[in-house]
Amino acid sequence: MGTYTIVEAHALSEAVFEMWIHAAQVARHAKAGQFCIIHPDGAGERVPLTISGTDGENIRIAFMAVGTTTKLLATLKAGDELRDVAGPLGVPSDIAQGNETVIIVGGGVGVACTPILARAAKDAGNHVIGIIGARNKDLLIFEDDMREICDELFVTTDDGSYGIKGFASAPLKELCESGRKIDKVWIIGPGMMMKVTSEVTRPYGIKTYVSLNPVMVDGTGMCGSCRVTVGGEMKFACVDGPEFDAHQVDWNDLMTRQRMYIPEEKQSMAYREEHHVCRCRKVE
Ligand SMILES: Cc1cc2nc3c(=O)[nH]c(=O)nc-3n(C[C@H](O)[C@H](O)[C@H](O)COP(=O)(O)OP(=O)(O)OC[C@H]3O[C@@H](n4cnc5c(N)ncnc54)[C@H](O)[C@@H]3O)c2cc1C
Ligand code: FES
Repeated sequence: MGTYTIVEAHALSEAVFEMWIHAAQVARHAKAGQFCIIHPDGAGERVPLTISGTDGENIRIAFMAVGTTTKLLATLKAGDELRDVAGPLGVPSDIAQGNETVIIVGGGVGVACTPILARAAKDAGNHVIGIIGARNKDLLIFEDDMREICDELFVTTDDGSYGIKGFASAPLKELCESGRKIDKVWIIGPGMMMKVTSEVTRPYGIKTYVSLNPVMVDGTGMCGSCRVTVGGEMKFACVDGPEFDAHQVDWNDLMTRQRMYIPEEKQSMAYREEHHVCRCRKVE
């Protein structure tokens, strides 16, 4: 088996894919909250993706096929080889040893980050409450993993096709209002979902983390592309994060920067659709 061979690849929904990759060094050192940067073919972009789980020498990723590189990744199969998988990168999640009640909220493809975090919090002896949400039942991922790990699990769908009808913020609000002891909350999902949902915990003064996903290039703190403003200070999400105090994040700055390369991303996608030739190697 090659160094970065895809061990397993399948679709979780129409646009979200799960992949297990042989990446021994990354798997051995990876902790909850960290990510890797994948360079599928040596020619296109490198994409940062959260490490969603580990198993021996393999890592799991789950990604939404949104643009040139993730759509290329989605075409790959077990046996194909990736050019490079760098990691683990970023600061691991701030998980306390025992006695805390933590809530882990995942929305959309952000649910990909929740099983590894829930497992780490549980293994450290904490009481873990999971809340996972999707637009509809077909888009819901990793429910089985979360059900097995969490002490309590709430499932929401926007359209009510499964679980509680509405957004993941609703069960979070109820838990906060119930007066139960809640020590920490993680919220992982699209930028707008994290911004709005973190407002639920603010009045209660509950320590709340979000995992930010600005555009990253080198992942080493050198290029500056992943600059975010947290608590009025400039941080680099790749080395200072990607998890930050939700109540200190400058969301407008983050979202403006995320939209910076939309024209180039559209151009790249159009070029791929016209000329694409997959350069990934097949392991014989
Ligand atoms: C720390 C981190 C962890 C992430 N984890 C996941 C994950 O587990 N699953 C998942 O589906 N997505 C994750 N993302 C987002 C993922 O990296 C982007 O969807 C991907 O880079 C898009 O690349 P593309 O070429 O397919 O699409 P493009 O057309 O290039 O971009 C589509 C959109 O993706 C974002 N994006 C583009 N390039 C980058 C880049 N280099 N870095 C970050 N965002 C970019 C932009 O918002 C852009 O508008 C994560 C991002 C970060 C920073
Ligand atoms: S990705 Fe270059 S500084 Fe973070």
